[in-house]
Amino acid sequence: MNPLAGPTKQSVQAVLNQLSDHERETIELRLERWTPDLVAALTVLYPEIDVEELVGRLAERAVQAFRERDPELRRLDQRRLLTPDWLQQPTRFGYACYTERFGDNLARLPEHLDYLRDLGVDYLHLMPLLRPREGDNDGGYAVQSYRTVREDLGEIDDLRNLARTLRGQGISLVLDLVLNHVAREHEWAERARAGDDHYRRYFYIYPDRTAPDAYERTLPDVFPDFAPGSFTHDDEVDGWVWTTFNEWQWDLNWANPDVLVEFAEIVLFLANLGVEVLRLDAIAFTWKRLGTSCQNQPEVHALTQALRAVARIACPATVFKAEAIVGPRDLVQYLGQGEHAGRVSDLAYHNSLMVQVWSMLATGNVVLTRQALSALPTTPPAGTWICYLRCHDDIGWAIDDGDARAVGLEGYAHRRFLSEWYAGEYPGSWADGLVFQANPVSGDKRISGTAASLLGLSAEGDMPGDDAALARLFVASAIVCGWGGIPVIWSGDELGMTNDPHWADEPGHEDDNRWAHRPRLDWQRAERRHDRATSASKVFEGVAHLARVRAALPQLHAAADSTVLMHTDAGVLAVVRSHPSGPMLCVYNVTDSWRPFEYRHFTEAGIHHPHDAIENRDIHIGDDGMVGLSPYAAWWVVEGRPGVS
Ligand code: GLC
Repeated sequence: MNPLAGPTKQSVQAVLNQLSDHERETIELRLERWTPDLVAALTVLYPEIDVEELVGRLAERAVQAFRERDPELRRLDQRRLLTPDWLQQPTRFGYACYTERFGDNLARLPEHLDYLRDLGVDYLHLMPLLRPREGDNDGGYAVQSYRTVREDLGEIDDLRNLARTLRGQGISLVLDLVLNHVAREHEWAERARAGDDHYRRYFYIYPDRTAPDAYERTLPDVFPDFAPGSFTHDDEVDGWVWTTFNEWQWDLNWANPDVLVEFAEIVLFLANLGVEVLRLDAIAFTWKRLGTSCQNQPEVHALTQALRAVARIACPATVFKAEAIVGPRDLVQYLGQGEHAGRVSDLAYHNSLMVQVWSMLATGNVVLTRQALSALPTTPPAGTWICYLRCHDDIGWAIDDGDARAVGLEGYAHRRFLSEWYAGEYPGSWADGLVFQANPVSGDKRISGTAASLLGLSAEGDMPGDDAALARLFVASAIVCGWGGIPVIWSGDELGMTNDPHWADEPGHEDDNRWAHRPRLDWQRAERRHDRATSASKVFEGVAHLARVRAALPQLHAAADSTVLMHTDAGVLAVVRSHPSGPMLCVYNVTDSWRPFEYRHFTEAGIHHPHDAIENRDIHIGDDGMVGLSPYAAWWVVEGRPGVS
């Protein structure tokens, strides 16, 4: 369907008429290219309506946003279109933080750009900064207004200026798009409570418990501790409101096309401020279906496709990142499979890799990881993983029961072991985490804690056992940086910061121990980042070194394939990266003892003069055909030049 040919022609045409010939040609070509994606998605989502009219509404908004787009951003659009793999390049390196916990406010954040540059950062995820509800707001994930910045952080113009400053330094700004729910105080929810039917249809509101009970039969509990159940009775609206997360986060009804149009406008608004990556928060939950967990429904991908098509028409420099913290089998769908290939998000969190890193370090065993990572469906070519060790959330033990069974483990028991290990309850554990949301029904216990605390590092790094903790931090970071997606460091982890002992002191935080691993950045500690004697420096320099080495290795381009070797020592993870510039073999010892590695793995991978790029040294074969890996060793091995180190 061509929006320039149907009955919607007039509204689109009216905007087109305001464009120059060159602009018109650009936008017409984009409409021609992306309208079919839009139509296909809308047809799946809203089979009962006249899709043509909806296409017209969306196309008109996209063209309008294109018309209003800053010339500098249009230039960025062109630049990105000329380099479609811009996100996949090994130079990409990410950092995520709360604005106020890192740099006070939006205007002052650029004062810390040298710090980010030191680390090699060119992708900056600022945690939710649009105006949230007052009081507890789930770290900003209960948005009251999508077009206003949180008062203490600045104004919309500060955000626009910050995006421009970052862009000038080659840093892409990443922001959240919270689209599963809005705050109870958002205007749409207020209007619904005032009895406006148009807005009541934006939500799921039921007169009695019949529907909620029916859904709850198959719905898992997301916050069983502080917000049990998925529905909340609201006296003002006189009904049961769907609230997957907290009772003041009202789930949106995406089966209503008006909700899609609202969010298309928000996407365009944020893109025109200069946001380059939109993190689709809790995207897995956006479509509800009776008798299911109401996660990962096929329509979720169709609605992503619709929004993406709109963005591609108006602002192709803006891409999507799926925040779907789901089981390994469902995960790859978010990067586009089947009919959605190349049409949804370009980025998604590699939750499975993250969980496996923790599992390997706790057990000193890679057998489950080999199984889980090699059982993942192939990553779509344009798909890029966000590789991370920690983020602002708790860690949920997404271990697939089938994967566990395949290697002789029991999924439930292993998940339980991991919780106990990282809570520091298991005999011999070096970890110092906190249990988050123990679920008495499923037995699940998630874990909070900074990377340093979970790996056993002390605050000052002067305790026995700290060397081992530092080595664990390094090997974990190397696995994350060597997988071939965008590594994203969670603020504070680059300095080895431990859990914030005062996390519960701030009003609204007392029930949510995720704040333990969301400390304010300790700038005094940061000052010591180049003082080799400190643990802060050892962690920081280690991460910055990995970023530098990574940037020079074409094998870490995200489009290259990763293959996990199945026949290595049980304490050694080995991953082959295949790339036309030559193979790479990443080798990691996840144990605290020396481990053997057969030299033949290098030659079989096509590497004849193995050279470790991390330590810039050649690797030599022992008399027994083996090489020895020291405790927690991390090697990124490429073809070296004989005699040259
Ligand atoms: C995402 C966020 C998490 C938040 C939830 C609800 O999972 O990462 O912090 O609690 O969505 O918005």
